[in-house]
Amino acid sequence: MEHHRLYHELAHLWPILSPPEEYAVEAWHLKEILQEKLGPGRHSVLDMGCGGGHVLSHLSQWFNLTALDLSPEMLSLSQNLNPAVPHHLGDMREVRLGITFDAILVHDAIDYMLTEDDLSAAFQSARMHLRPGGVLLLAPDHYRETFVGPSVLHWVHEKEGLTVTFIEHADDLNPSDTQTESVFFYIINDHGVRTIEEDHHTHGLFPKETWLRLLRECGFTPEERNYPPYAGGYGGNVLVGVVS
Ligand SMILES: C[S@@+](CC[C@H](N)C(=O)[O-])C[C@H]1O[C@@H](n2cnc3c(N)ncnc32)[C@H](O)[C@@H]1O
Repeated sequence: MEHHRLYHELAHLWPILSPPEEYAVEAWHLKEILQEKLGPGRHSVLDMGCGGGHVLSHLSQWFNLTALDLSPEMLSLSQNLNPAVPHHLGDMREVRLGITFDAILVHDAIDYMLTEDDLSAAFQSARMHLRPGGVLLLAPDHYRETFVGPSVLHWVHEKEGLTVTFIEHADDLNPSDTQTESVFFYIINDHGVRTIEEDHHTHGLFPKETWLRLLRECGFTPEERNYPPYAGGYGGNVLVGVVS
């Protein structure tokens, strides 16, 4: 499996690159969809691929949350930000917690599913952790139909004397596979000392119809619920699957 430096030795950069406050509006949209589907009440929600727990941090006022991630370093960031939330280390394609939830959120971590088999495995895990009528929310960054490459995104963020310039170059090197290839550069200015780090991330890229078909095959009734993308052009695509 590809080693993502951002989620391991460079995980301390995550809260600077993509701070929790940037997720407030998106979390509000997700909350609205969940409450519409589930009705009133403090429902239980599992976040698979919680990362630094930035989305989670905005949802705790409405839901009883549980978190899962593949990376111990990201899990520990999320644990510090969300101390009341139980955290589990595991792969969303294989995890079996033996607990059922009212809803499961797989936010941008779903982008790390690279093949149809990966996606189906994640959907099956979700299905096994949901009660009848439970809801799966997915927020893929791109669909095959709308991805444009090569593209470059960049921004500069500062926190407590550490300035990080982030540059992402994303491309679809082989249009006949289901993946895009991104190169991330982090130009770090730590109180006047500059270092430059490089990182490679492969993401899944599927036609929208593939998402809908695989959700149906895994026992969900799917529907699309989009909202405006947030800063940087990420986000905005939401698929909802209700356990059939
Ligand atoms: C962009 S980060 C998520 C950020 C998160 N939305 C937040 O609010 O901070 C993507 C996360 O997906 C996790 N991830 C990737 N593949 C995974 C898998 N197979 N199972 C569980 N987590 C996974 C990575 O470890 C990483 O923490």
